[in-house]
Amino acid sequence: MSAFRAARLPMLLADARQDGQPIVFVNDAFLGLTGYDRGEVLGGSVGLLLAGGGAAAARLDRAMAEGRGAEVDLDLRLKDGSTVRSRVSLSAVHDDAGRLRHFFLAVAERGSVRQAAARRDVEANRTRISELEAALAEKTQLLHEVDHRVKNNLQTVSSLMLLKARRVRSKAVRQALLDMAERVGALAAVHRLMYAEGERSTFDVTAFITDIAGDLMAGTTPGQIDLKLVLAPLETPLAKAAPLALLLNELLTNALRHAFPRGRKGRLTVATERRAEGGRIIVEDDGVGMGQEMPAEAFGRSLAEMLARQIGATLTWEDAAPGTRVTVLLPPMAAAPT
Ligand SMILES: Nc1ncnc2c1ncn2[C@@H]1O[C@H](COP(=O)(O)OP(=O)(O)OP(=O)(O)O)[C@@H](O)[C@H]1O
Ligand SMILES: [Mg+2]
Repeated sequence: MSAFRAARLPMLLADARQDGQPIVFVNDAFLGLTGYDRGEVLGGSVGLLLAGGGAAAARLDRAMAEGRGAEVDLDLRLKDGSTVRSRVSLSAVHDDAGRLRHFFLAVAERGSVRQAAARRDVEANRTRISELEAALAEKTQLLHEVDHRVKNNLQTVSSLMLLKARRVRSKAVRQALLDMAERVGALAAVHRLMYAEGERSTFDVTAFITDIAGDLMAGTTPGQIDLKLVLAPLETPLAKAAPLALLLNELLTNALRHAFPRGRKGRLTVATERRAEGGRIIVEDDGVGMGQEMPAEAFGRSLAEMLARQIGATLTWEDAAPGTRVTVLLPPMAAAPT
């Protein structure tokens, strides 16, 4: 019996001759595994130690009722309410006369130990994952902070230009300041959107178009220009967001400023499309058209061309008869140089 008591394998003995086949002996290893006190186990039935019945528990029950051994995989109920998957081996013990005396039940601890190790692994992984999540959240938070500050600073620059514009006498200087304030404002809009969008690796072009078109329309006479947005989802790498935003700002301000002179009514359409050869953005008005004459210092247009080159896009200007159509063809995302 003392070898039994000291055995590392969790085991117990149940008296086969008494009613209910009570447990009459349990070793320390079993108590260590399950967390029970000896008094809680002794006198009880084996079935009380099994979790939730099931086919395996029924097999064990049947074997005990029929007085034979069995080997089953089942869930042991631990004192703390949790369960542990175990391989239980039941043997029937007979006396010299061949009469059934005891049931000997041993828990093959390997299964439970493996399970405990797996549980520790899961626990360790969970900890690691929450550490990584925390680090990512911190990084996102920092990026947000940066975008937020950049946006604020750009807004400040834009406001300073507007303030100065109000005070200068020269019309040309005033207009130049207003134009520049608008461009800086477009950049601020980019950072406002990045700040609002959270953790992303691409920039939502359609959100920007909606945002800036709304802003620019606010400066026009109500009812004069009908804005139509036909936007299919379009993303661009973050590094290209600012140049693309500036470029679109040039196209939109040109249409609003030049296509509909003297209160001319018309429609401005901005469309995005995703195609195999890359994303397409179309800015089209049905206004007066560009005509042939191109001012010598066409700053806006050369800026647009320069920005397009910078992001690997091609710009096409066409007569839309009536009006003007400008198409920006973006390179496919994967192949795009940044
Ligand atoms: N959508 C349009 N409809 C009609 N004319 C246009 C349109 N876009 C551009 N233009 C003509 O092309 C010219 C050049 O445009 P560009 O953007 O280079 O200069 P700008 O708009 O006059 O000034 P800025 O340098 O401030 O942009 C404009 O002055 C205008 O005459
Ligand atoms: Mg222009």
